[in-house]
Amino acid sequence: MSGRNPFRPHLMRIVQASEETPDVRTLRLEFSDTKAAPKLEWRAGQFGEFSVFGAGECVFTITNPPTRGGHIQCTFRQTGKVTSALRSLCVGQSVGFRGPYGNYFPMEDWRGRDLLFVGGGIGMAALHAPLQLALDRRADYGQILVLNGARTVADMVYKEEMKEWANTEGVKVVRTVDPGGETPDWDGEVGLIPDIFQRLNPKPNGSIVITCGPPIMLRFMLLALDKLAFAPEQVITTLENKMKCAIGQCGRCNVGRFFVCRDGPVLTAAQLRNLPADY
Ligand SMILES: Cc1cc2nc3c(=O)[nH]c(=O)nc-3n(C[C@H](O)[C@H](O)[C@H](O)COP(=O)(O)OP(=O)(O)OC[C@H]3O[C@@H](n4cnc5c(N)ncnc54)[C@H](O)[C@@H]3O)c2cc1C
Ligand code: FES
Repeated sequence: MSGRNPFRPHLMRIVQASEETPDVRTLRLEFSDTKAAPKLEWRAGQFGEFSVFGAGECVFTITNPPTRGGHIQCTFRQTGKVTSALRSLCVGQSVGFRGPYGNYFPMEDWRGRDLLFVGGGIGMAALHAPLQLALDRRADYGQILVLNGARTVADMVYKEEMKEWANTEGVKVVRTVDPGGETPDWDGEVGLIPDIFQRLNPKPNGSIVITCGPPIMLRFMLLALDKLAFAPEQVITTLENKMKCAIGQCGRCNVGRFFVCRDGPVLTAAQLRNLPADY
């Protein structure tokens, strides 16, 4: 975090903007103050507040892992005021970034385990940093499964990167779209993510499932995992409650005593079960 004021953002320049889908874009941001770049440390799973000057701030996961530092990457879906303003910016223009905030995926504790990444829609953004980190430290982990689902073929994020991931040894990539969302040349699966996951029938065997997506998908994924005998402690997700300060001061993001910006956003299914029902 820069300076004495915790709300003061770093000034960042957009150096690359890639269209993932008609309403999802990935940005690569570089620090205008090049001295700040090496000082910023973060862990996979943490997030930042990204600001568009004159429009406001919004929260996104930092999608590049610390193994690919020196810049900040995010993938965002255009949903409202700030994300529309961000979408209108071009390469060369500036935005603000403050962070990193929140807790992170305990990647060190997962050494030697198989990792199963299951993402729905823009939820894949939350899995991007831990997945890339696991790929960068390939020898540290067992088999890797990536199950990426979207409503339609056009809505699927990370299409190009998935080809690279699939070419890595010990990595299996499965893509699925909802029934009716396929195109005539679609060569992936057709079906809802929890159904495809059950069909893949992975064995719990000490593996870790990292899953993120819309609430309805998450609900059915947790049921599917239960049926497949995964313990709640081996299932990790992230919460996306609305936030304002992101530093545990305003009370906007809390679920009971759990402040998502401070105590989350990463938590196990076991912890999720203990939260009040309104998360
Ligand atoms: C920890 C965390 C990580 C996130 N990571 C990402 C990410 O990597 N990529 C991404 O695209 N989005 C992410 N989000 C959601 C993102 O913050 C919101 O979509 C964004 O703030 C909307 O801003 P806006 O001004 O464009 O929308 P607004 O004009 O404020 O709202 C537009 C619509 O989006 C809904 N909305 C606003 N905030 C949220 C939210 N937090 N969750 C769900 N719906 C919301 C509103 O209810 C409304 O329907 C994350 C949120 C959290 C808390
Ligand atoms: S966003 Fe202010 S307390 Fe969490």
